[in-house]
Amino acid sequence: MSEWVTVGPVGSIKDGENTIVDVDNVMVAVFLQDDEYIAIEDVCPHDGSEIASGCLKNGILECPHHGATFELKTGNVLTPPAYEPLEMLQVQVVDGLIQVRDHRWD
Ligand code: FES
Repeated sequence: MSEWVTVGPVGSIKDGENTIVDVDNVMVAVFLQDDEYIAIEDVCPHDGSEIASGCLKNGILECPHHGATFELKTGNVLTPPAYEPLEMLQVQVVDGLIQVRDHRWD
């Protein structure tokens, strides 16, 4: 079973922004949106490029490379050229610390 990895203290990510953390050699982007932490693998399903540097507006993340859009909260793809959803990871807050884990290793 994969371990929880600490991202940082609550408050270290501003609303609408993200931070990147290495979870077992997988780059994970942890966003804060509307007081909810959301963790995704920092990979666009279109061609495997990073996506966390894209524009996030009204809960929609736009890939900076070819413009595919995704609903951040669910990972669902909204517009091409991507056709697959984002990979969502588990995130929790324990004792004031944001933590993520890659449950795909379980
Ligand atoms: S790499 Fe994201 S849309 Fe092409």
